[in-house]
Amino acid sequence: MRKFIRRSFLAGLVLFILIQFVPYSAAEIEARGEIQAPPEVQAILHRACYDCHSAAPRIPWYGRVAPVSWLVAHDIEEGREHLNFSDWSLMSAKDQAEAREEIIEEVEEGEMPLAIYLKMHDEAKLDRDDLATLRAWAGMTGHAGEHEEGERDGD
Ligand code: HEC
Repeated sequence: MRKFIRRSFLAGLVLFILIQFVPYSAAEIEARGEIQAPPEVQAILHRACYDCHSAAPRIPWYGRVAPVSWLVAHDIEEGREHLNFSDWSLMSAKDQAEAREEIIEEVEEGEMPLAIYLKMHDEAKLDRDDLATLRAWAGMTGHAGEHEEGERDGD
């Protein structure tokens, strides 16, 4: 039994080392039209969204170790496909307005930032004030109503 455990451990270790050679990371892309927004809005986006929706994701050490690195790369690739703040200025005014509305919707519903990301990034949690700042930027005045607040599922 001990021999079996030792062999399994070694096999796992070898596998772990081998998968480090599977190169899957998010492509390096250029910022072609970084978003222009009030500093307080920029601060929120950088803190909570840029790691998946920009040309400049910050990747922690554990995000460079497979298999976590694959998950991180996947989220970045897919996140950017939907929304890239580093290409924001290339969008038409109409598309920007729509994107702002969608951002509010995603944040209010607690869909964004991704729950799995929030587990590792306390600083990315958005509170009522952050939401009010984003809403003002999106042209929605006033604070989120009680109803909308109640819909946030929190994680
Ligand atoms: C850990 C990565 C990650 C972070 C951080 C993150 N997102 Fe996303 N986002 C994604 C992924 C992946 C998708 C596409 C899949 C999905 O909708 O779940 C996405 C999709 C979106 C969409 C498009 C939804 C749709 O249906 O087209 C919006 C809008 C969005 N995110 C806004 C934000 C905002 C605003 C923040 C910061 C407050 C943020 N995201 C933070 C990964 C992330």
